[in-house]
Amino acid sequence: MQRAKITIIGAGNVGATCAHWAAAKELGDITLVDIVEGLPQGKGLDLAESAPIEGFDSRIVGTNDYADTANSDVVIITSGVPRKKDPVTGQFPSRDELLATNVRIVGDVTRNVAARSPNAVLIIVSNPLDAMVYVAWKVSGFPTNRVVGQAGVLDTARYRAFIADALGCSVEDITALLMGGHGDDMVPLPRYTSVAGIPLPELLPADRIEAIVDRTRKGGGEIVGLLKTGSAFYAPSAAAVQMAESIIRDKRRILPCAAYCDKEYGVGGYFVGVPCVLGWHGVEKVIEVALTNAERALFTESVEHVKTLVADTKKLIG
Ligand code: NAI
Ligand code: 2OP
Repeated sequence: MQRAKITIIGAGNVGATCAHWAAAKELGDITLVDIVEGLPQGKGLDLAESAPIEGFDSRIVGTNDYADTANSDVVIITSGVPRKKDPVTGQFPSRDELLATNVRIVGDVTRNVAARSPNAVLIIVSNPLDAMVYVAWKVSGFPTNRVVGQAGVLDTARYRAFIADALGCSVEDITALLMGGHGDDMVPLPRYTSVAGIPLPELLPADRIEAIVDRTRKGGGEIVGLLKTGSAFYAPSAAAVQMAESIIRDKRRILPCAAYCDKEYGVGGYFVGVPCVLGWHGVEKVIEVALTNAERALFTESVEHVKTLVADTKKLIG
């Protein structure tokens, strides 16, 4: 059987850890790319040398050359710059400066991978996520089903982990739904959250659920606050690889992803977090669930923020 080919762009914390999870699952052969010379080669070789211990047969190539990415089935894009202090001025870049830099990086990277892997599914991780998926879609010219953003799997995993912790039960028994953009206004949905089939509101009082929802929304910031430099990477990379697995193995998992919605939920042509069936063709289907007026209002507010971000992005890429 032919092995799948997975390219991961960015050999930093998220990218290298994606390679680790993907190799451990033997998802296919892995090409790790970065702009920094030696970084993907060094991390790729180190990971390959763990194969005899862990017993996986994925081949791993670290490279700075896009020729090595040709004919990938799935490309995970994690390249970008984080929001960190300038060591000289001591200033943080403005949101607009950061957006402009990552638009340029994700645009360049997408141009390079799309030319060499015209049939790939692109999974975008770089932030600001909801804008970067739009950039990758525009620049690649790929159909909307083959461009998808990772945010919801991570945010839902945080939500599920906090619920399991509160109930003292296995994370495996928590299934949940979370929608909207990858910001503090994301929308965890307790009404669509269950514990071994039992609706969450029957097991936890409203104030405890609200506290978990609030912690989930601020989950990325909680990790940044603890790490001081850099942001989360174990859970984000596990999330991206779960999406890649569903695509490569055509598992058709139903996962919350940033997918293109036009008529769906009345979004009008933006990538936002919604439940999707992920299979060999990428987003096989967006699932529409009924929302109460209150849930709909929260979702609409989150989508409005995505629209503002995309409007700023459009000014940069035309
Ligand atoms: P990192 O700084 O550790 O790694 C980023 C890597 O991208 C670096 O190795 C850098 O050299 C590389 N890079 C920069 N420009 C490049 C280019 N033009 N071509 C190829 N490689 C290039 O950052 P980390 O922690 O891995 O995060 C990566 C991105 O993922 C950030 O934008 C971060 O905000 C985002 N992120 C998104 C999450 C989500 O849920 N969507 C969760 C966690 C992180
Ligand atoms: C996170 O949610 C920073 O987007 C990143 O951890």
